[in-house]
Amino acid sequence: MSGHAVRITDIQDRKARGEKIIMLTAYAAWMARLLAPGVVDMLLVGDSVGMVELGYDTTIPVTMNDMVRHARAVRAGAPEALIVADMPFLSHQLGVSQAIRNAGRLMQHGAATAVKMEGGGAAVETVERIVATGIPVMGHLGLLPQSVHAQGGFRRQATRPEEQSRLMADAVALESAGAFAIVLECVPAALACAATRRLRVPVIGIGSGPDCDGQVLVTHDILGLSGASKPSFAKQYADLGQAIADAVKQFSEDVRAGRFPNA
Ligand code: KIV
Repeated sequence: MSGHAVRITDIQDRKARGEKIIMLTAYAAWMARLLAPGVVDMLLVGDSVGMVELGYDTTIPVTMNDMVRHARAVRAGAPEALIVADMPFLSHQLGVSQAIRNAGRLMQHGAATAVKMEGGGAAVETVERIVATGIPVMGHLGLLPQSVHAQGGFRRQATRPEEQSRLMADAVALESAGAFAIVLECVPAALACAATRRLRVPVIGIGSGPDCDGQVLVTHDILGLSGASKPSFAKQYADLGQAIADAVKQFSEDVRAGRFPNA
């Protein structure tokens, strides 16, 4: 494994310089290889792997073993990348020592550079303790897919003033606990903008408007590989789903017609 081209401090310097930060999800070595270094700043081995690769309808069934396996694969494809791996459902809520052990597994066995943890409130102390062990932590507030049932579905969060105050307090607390960046998912653009101005650490938005320090999307959504389940805020830049269907049709027609193999 070679040295890391992008470091946590580089990500934080981008905010200071007013340069946008780009993060995309990756789950496999081939995909990590294609997400060119120098174009994408951070790769996120999201627990969205459960929905876009494993066929689940939420991220809740995703396990630590899943995350370690996919993080390791992404590292194989991108030896120098800054790789953030998600702490999956129930990997950190049972106590600080469980959380540190699992964050450590993602680093030791998954070869991640950092971990991402959903939630504020009770999660803040855990973030502080993980950071104290030398593991960089990215926070995640707003829509928390692991709490999809408690939050009433995959829908916009922090729409009421009291929820906005709570989110801002959680964001400030996560920053004080040492989180190196915070993802804000599906919150109103004005709130994301206010948090971006208030925090020293980078705010990475998803479905939270244009004013965040950076943006993250699920790569399948920008490539047209999510079928009908693409969220409305994601922009599709290619239709690889159609390209794959066309190639497979062409191959089967060639075999049936005797055009392949032709020698
Ligand atoms: O799991 C994931 O892909 C994520 C992003 C949507 C931020 O957490």
